[in-house]
Amino acid sequence: MNVLILGNGGREHALAWKISQSSSCNKLFIAPGNAGTELIGLNIDISVTDFQSIKKLAIKEEVSMIIVGPEDPLVKGIFDFFKNDKFLNHITVIGPSQEGAKLEGSKEFAKEFMIKNNIPTAKYQAFTKKTIKEGYDFLETLNPPYVLKADGLAAGKGVLIINEIKKAKEELEAMLLKSKFGKAGKKVIIEEFLDGIELSVFVITNGDSYKILPSAKDYKRIGEGDTGLNTGGMGAISPVPFIDRFFMEKIDQEIIRPTIEGLKKENIHYQGFLFIGLIKIGSEIKVIEYNVRLGDPETEVVIPRIKSDLLNLLKGIRDGTFSEKDLNISEDTAATVMLVSKGYPEKYMTGHTITNFKNCENSIVFHAGTKKHNEETQTNGGRIMAITSLGKNPEDALRKSYKTAKDIHFEGKNYRRDIGFDL
Ligand code: AMP
Ligand code: GLY
Repeated sequence: MNVLILGNGGREHALAWKISQSSSCNKLFIAPGNAGTELIGLNIDISVTDFQSIKKLAIKEEVSMIIVGPEDPLVKGIFDFFKNDKFLNHITVIGPSQEGAKLEGSKEFAKEFMIKNNIPTAKYQAFTKKTIKEGYDFLETLNPPYVLKADGLAAGKGVLIINEIKKAKEELEAMLLKSKFGKAGKKVIIEEFLDGIELSVFVITNGDSYKILPSAKDYKRIGEGDTGLNTGGMGAISPVPFIDRFFMEKIDQEIIRPTIEGLKKENIHYQGFLFIGLIKIGSEIKVIEYNVRLGDPETEVVIPRIKSDLLNLLKGIRDGTFSEKDLNISEDTAATVMLVSKGYPEKYMTGHTITNFKNCENSIVFHAGTKKHNEETQTNGGRIMAITSLGKNPEDALRKSYKTAKDIHFEGKNYRRDIGFDL
């Protein structure tokens, strides 16, 4: 079958790498892709939210499956767009309906869903411009730090964690009265701060049954020792060593199963990947957020541990064989180290030549912000490449990734030297 992957990051390169290994994969397209996906499929320069152009491409190239990488097209309704068009509804979209995508697209929707379905999460209230006064009062009832979240998508920047009440009130005002996050911040969730260890679980579902993918932990801060600004992610490890089989069982019973059952009960069609951000507080586990896609760079450690044919499993979502298909996971640890441009996550330069990234024996080099320029591969973003290695344990995997990270060269290369330091 012909497959189209939407997106242009390390996540999409990892998906393309895996899908291209399937015997069921005929032609592979990536839109818009990067210099890495170009090596294994055909890049098509269209935007992930340009549904009309995606439609034309899908018909012209007889695409049977679209795997959606980022959240934007899902929140904008790409699943429904394909389902409701008689020329397109034979195409399988791997991603939830627009209603299902609200789990990520609206924090209030996600919170209400969790409350209704008895899924443990932080206590919260939602406020608008009209109820800002109640918002100030609610802050007074909480202990610091204060957690403020823009309701809508804000490119990963919509969550503020603030120590002083005065500053928290100012930020609430900036969001509700001064459009700090534009439309996304017209409603603000204020919630209880949870103090614990974060981890992520990934699920794949056909809307009825589900399979649990490997767990992962990402490193969000730019600086070593988890300091400095938040980024899209500077590295990741899978599995998460502090989660044993029994704790995973608890996560399944208290969180994953009630989520899938809740979606079914509410008649919300959900197929594809679900990424649940969790926080472990002693022996308790709570949901921090839902994402309706895979994480980046978590995908770069989750996917390489899958031994079975992923495309074959995804095909099962359409043809009714999903639940009987195998999902085999490697016992190895996967670690990824993200190479970024100097200055990221603030201002950075692009257009630098990248060398020495081919033939890296012990690692898989997933491209993120890269582009082809004549015969050269150049930097084209903040996050440049995710260097993934497999090993018998985190030390082994990290040693290989760090060796490769050192060998690859581009001007302004930066990376964290302490991925996995806390494990
Ligand atoms: P989110 O976009 O909801 O995942 O939030 C971004 C980050 O903020 C999370 O990965 C956590 O590190 C942190 N965070 C969000 N909500 C809470 C909370 N209630 N308590 C503590 N940290 C939080
Ligand atoms: N690494 C976090 C995310 O993809 O949202």
